[in-house]
Amino acid sequence: MTRNLTLSALGGLFVGTAVLAFPSMAQAQGQLTVYCSVQEEWCRPMVEAFEKDTGIKVSMTRKSSGETYAQIKAEASNPKGDVWWGGTGDPHMQAAEEGLTEEYKSPNMANLQDWAVKQWSQTKGRTIGIYSGALGFAYNTKLIASKGIPEPKCWADLLDPKLKDEVQVADPNSSGTSYTMLATLVQLMGEDKAFDYMKKLHKNINQYTKSGAAPAKATSLGETTVGIAFLHDHVTMIVEGAPMKAVAPCEGTGYEIGSMSIIKGAKNLENAKKWYDWALTPKAQAMAAAARSYQVPSNKDTPIPPQSPKMADIKLIDFDFAKYGSSAERKRLLAKWDAEVKNQPK
Ligand code: F6P
Repeated sequence: MTRNLTLSALGGLFVGTAVLAFPSMAQAQGQLTVYCSVQEEWCRPMVEAFEKDTGIKVSMTRKSSGETYAQIKAEASNPKGDVWWGGTGDPHMQAAEEGLTEEYKSPNMANLQDWAVKQWSQTKGRTIGIYSGALGFAYNTKLIASKGIPEPKCWADLLDPKLKDEVQVADPNSSGTSYTMLATLVQLMGEDKAFDYMKKLHKNINQYTKSGAAPAKATSLGETTVGIAFLHDHVTMIVEGAPMKAVAPCEGTGYEIGSMSIIKGAKNLENAKKWYDWALTPKAQAMAAAARSYQVPSNKDTPIPPQSPKMADIKLIDFDFAKYGSSAERKRLLAKWDAEVKNQPK
């Protein structure tokens, strides 16, 4: 079933000697380095709230999912990060398999959705689900009308020659969103047809961005007619007033289990565990909606924002997270995409 997810359809986002005697709370509680793979707009308030709640001083770096995985791998002999919060589950699973992350069992796991705990058990406790969201695309309603392009409802519609250079998606090497698309198409169509589809789609792509949500922003600004991204990222733009319509593709679509992992060799391990426990609480998870991030939260007691795309209304595939998050499969598919899709002439 095709769903056009418009905003209305979705429902609705001291000093001197005193310092020596009384060190500041932050100095007393230590530090934490967080690698954040959601939108900067959500990373920042999370960091500020955690610092306020715990007195721990946080240093945060925001990068896309695949980029963060690559950084953690490059730093493995001398880890600089403590906890990796957010981003699609696949590179978290790959990092778990490659021993780049630590096992941890949080006392706050009890009230999580099954899909969040499954992520944890499948990786022997090395990563856990913190949110979920479905993949889709959106189009700029003004551009589509002015260019006389039929409104796309299905993955197949994105191959329309009228959409030449009008579609934007991220590079799956850096972006978990785009890797989710790659893995979705392979599961939906079979590998040969999926690569055939992506080669044809390549002709319509105006840019492979680094970040997965960038095409949603570009669609809102009229820099591209169609953007492929998670539906919740399109909704953020729609809530902000963008002339956009979000679509759950008619053939069916994949989804992510946004994840969190503690980095192996973390220098601030105890503080990483504090972040991990805190990030699973309804109070911390509710900060997503306040930051206009409309994923489905993993704690059953966190209210699902009314703006969140309704997962039950979307034709979701039975996504094989273990297979497509495995190191061998992820490496193989990305190398194949580089060789057969990205570097093709248009
Ligand atoms: O914060 C928005 C979001 O879409 C998350 O839901 C997702 O896990 C992440 O961005 C993926 O970002 P990227 O595709 O840049 O790795």
